[in-house]
Amino acid sequence: MRAAASEGVVFMIPNLSSKSFDTILSARSPDQPPSWLQIYVNPSKEVVLAQIRACETQGVQALAITVDSAVPGKRERDQRNKIAVTLGAAKLAEAAASGTSARKPGNYANRDPGLNWEDIKWFQAQTKLPLIIKGVQCGEDAVLAAKLNCQAIILSNHGGRNLDTSRSGIEVLPEVVEALKAEGLFGKIEIYVDGGVRRGTDILKAIALGANAVGLGKPAVYSMSAYGEKGIVRMLQILKEELTQAMQLVGVSKLKVNYFTTFQ
Ligand SMILES: Cc1cc2nc3c(=O)[nH]c(=O)nc-3n(C[C@H](O)[C@H](O)[C@H](O)COP(=O)(O)O)c2cc1C
Repeated sequence: MRAAASEGVVFMIPNLSSKSFDTILSARSPDQPPSWLQIYVNPSKEVVLAQIRACETQGVQALAITVDSAVPGKRERDQRNKIAVTLGAAKLAEAAASGTSARKPGNYANRDPGLNWEDIKWFQAQTKLPLIIKGVQCGEDAVLAAKLNCQAIILSNHGGRNLDTSRSGIEVLPEVVEALKAEGLFGKIEIYVDGGVRRGTDILKAIALGANAVGLGKPAVYSMSAYGEKGIVRMLQILKEELTQAMQLVGVSKLKVNYFTTFQ
């Protein structure tokens, strides 16, 4: 959160995190750029409503609903490390209520495996917070999200962590742009891309192909693990330097990017 403020980028608070929602938010600075909550849709709508109300009360500016991992992928390293544990019914209910990651094989205690577009309509009936659909993988779903008036989509394969061989965000981007253009919906919904963004040139390529912004996962984790807050600040600075240099080298002086304009 602090590094995001220093470098003027959005911080998306994870639903499952080592620090609590309130602790993370307490690190916001007065000039903090928007903070969004990444949300897994809990089987209990009461739990989801409590999360929505907490975001509204705390001034979180958008909800990013993760739709690409309503059920777990085959995570062999997790299996080898025996992360998947079978819990009794009482423990599972407790885990679901607290939003923790405890799970039984083939399911997640904190996620509704039946997640579908009706749930997105349910969110819209409950809150005026902008909705971002995280984990879109094809043009048809991008069009559906735009038709449902979602504010943004994140083209993502969950950092290659859930469905083996699923396409990366950048691979899906041209199809999504084409599908939105064909329906006259390009520009109506913001498009973000994540997965494998490691260089300024990756950002420039995503924007050139029609994205409004990119997301970073592992680079933040690695920088944080090695150097803490300073590491994330430096990582973001390097990316900005590389982006500027790449723009100079291809003769671009300005990016017409409206990233997170919807949320200001
Ligand atoms: C350790 C780790 C945990 C993650 N946890 C979540 C999560 O709880 N919810 C979610 O929507 N995405 C999660 N992701 C995926 C990221 O939000 C993002 O889509 C992905 O990491 C982007 O790809 P990259 O790591 O190549 O930058 C996680 C990624 C990593 C590396």
